[in-house]
Amino acid sequence: MSSNPILTDSLKAHKQRLLAGSLMDLFQNNPNRFTQFSTACGELLLDFSKNFVDEESLSALVGLAESRELRQKTEAMFRGDIINNTEHRAVLHTALRNAGSELDSETAELINTTRERMLQLARQLEAGELFGYTGKTIDTVVNIGVGGSDLGPAMAVDALEKYHSSATKFLFVSNIDPVHISRALPQCNPETTLFIICSKTFTTLETLANAQAARNWFLERTGNEKAIAQHFLAVSTNLEAAAEFGIPEENLLPMWDWIGGRYSLWSAIGLTIALAIGPDQFEAFLAGGKAMDDHFKRAPFRHNMPVLMALLGVWHTDFFNAQSQALLCYDQNLSLFPAYLQQLDMESNGKSVSFSGESLDYATGAILWGGVGTNTQHSFHQLLHQGTHFIPVDFIVGARSTDPVADQQTSLYSNCLAQSQALMQGRSKASLVEEMLAQGKSEEEAEFLAKHRFVPGNKPSNTLVYPVLTPFVLGQLIALYEHKIFAQSVIWDINAFDQWGVELGKQLSKKITAKLVAEKRAADEDGSTQGLIEFFKQNQ
Ligand code: F6P
Repeated sequence: MSSNPILTDSLKAHKQRLLAGSLMDLFQNNPNRFTQFSTACGELLLDFSKNFVDEESLSALVGLAESRELRQKTEAMFRGDIINNTEHRAVLHTALRNAGSELDSETAELINTTRERMLQLARQLEAGELFGYTGKTIDTVVNIGVGGSDLGPAMAVDALEKYHSSATKFLFVSNIDPVHISRALPQCNPETTLFIICSKTFTTLETLANAQAARNWFLERTGNEKAIAQHFLAVSTNLEAAAEFGIPEENLLPMWDWIGGRYSLWSAIGLTIALAIGPDQFEAFLAGGKAMDDHFKRAPFRHNMPVLMALLGVWHTDFFNAQSQALLCYDQNLSLFPAYLQQLDMESNGKSVSFSGESLDYATGAILWGGVGTNTQHSFHQLLHQGTHFIPVDFIVGARSTDPVADQQTSLYSNCLAQSQALMQGRSKASLVEEMLAQGKSEEEAEFLAKHRFVPGNKPSNTLVYPVLTPFVLGQLIALYEHKIFAQSVIWDINAFDQWGVELGKQLSKKITAKLVAEKRAADEDGSTQGLIEFFKQNQ
């Protein structure tokens, strides 16, 4: 008998039973498989039929979620309980898309007042009524932030380009590599550029350095400290530090410690999104998130999209030993979605101790990677089809294009389906030999080539489809993955809302920075670090 709370004997037995057949067998034995193993919410349809599940195994997986009290823990999150137990914080990004209605009136008021300021700025930009210090209309917005203060807004602003409500140019600067800001600033006119400094903590090295560089650039060109008021805004929980940096008080937008950085694009950290798509579409984006919240809270687990995706992820990670998970977006608009989701998923669930601090004896958070189809087909799909790793895939595709050109969308959609089918069906040696013999190849050559051309198949995938990408759909998609990640963290009994691992590197980099500029050799460092410090010094 297994005492492991995840790797139960019952689930192990289901896996063995299902692996005795193939994914194709599951379809052959059940003509209703697509209807039975797909679920809808708002504009999204999830087809999870190309996975090793049937009604019995799914019911055991749902039992796993119930045994980990997922329903109760979800309610606790929405209610604002302190569920981030290492930082003693509530986790309330969901309140930002619900006009704060489930919360006490003071918090609801904070959310609503801040949202109103964001919408007001968005209205002004849309109407061409946001002006720089010389009276010219703002035409460029530069977001300076990193991690959650960059990836979400950058992804959404890019994904929703079709819905931009003005011709404003949006630039994102995140890296401390000076190349990043050096490429952005020449695209800006100091008279017409608005810089938004986004940092939850206002202590992040990269953001402060880039903000300082932007400020210097601006003052060198305008020579006018007062003009900062028309050109710099900041979003932070640490308003004091932002004010000390020189942002006028009226230009500070708050956020709160109950919004995790990687969950913050719904807050004022998402100001660029509101500015880009305008107030109405921003509200539609929030409504998409809320529609997924309502579904996650209410739908039975058997039909609950985030819960099903969470369970399938656990199934693959813990039972099928999947080391990684691929995300293939067949929508050019979503080209930044994999990078955004990498932080959301891996910074949340890359943990190896339980809530109470015990080491875990099962795997958690998968390594997430991916890209945009069809481009990925011509780069790494080979490894998905014939490599030695077991890599489940999430496919995402719209039925219609935001920018139709001839019949290209039909080819895009068909390529997406063909890839998930190829992963599932594979190609048998026998059929390859038969084909090559018919083409006139010798038996020896056909047998030899068939070994190389053989595609094993039986690779599972989910497919998420929607009519066309809109702000509402994007809001749904983001909230879907947020809740999938949360549901997995509950099943794995880990805290998805802290990120202590990131801190160590930050501390060490401060120490190393001092040694890079010191005269004497860093003799107390390990040999590798010493050698690399010396190389840096010799090359200045
Ligand atoms: O790198 C870790 C991290 O703390 C992320 O969690 C966060 O999104 C990012 O840094 C930026 O932090 P801040 O918004 O406080 O500048």
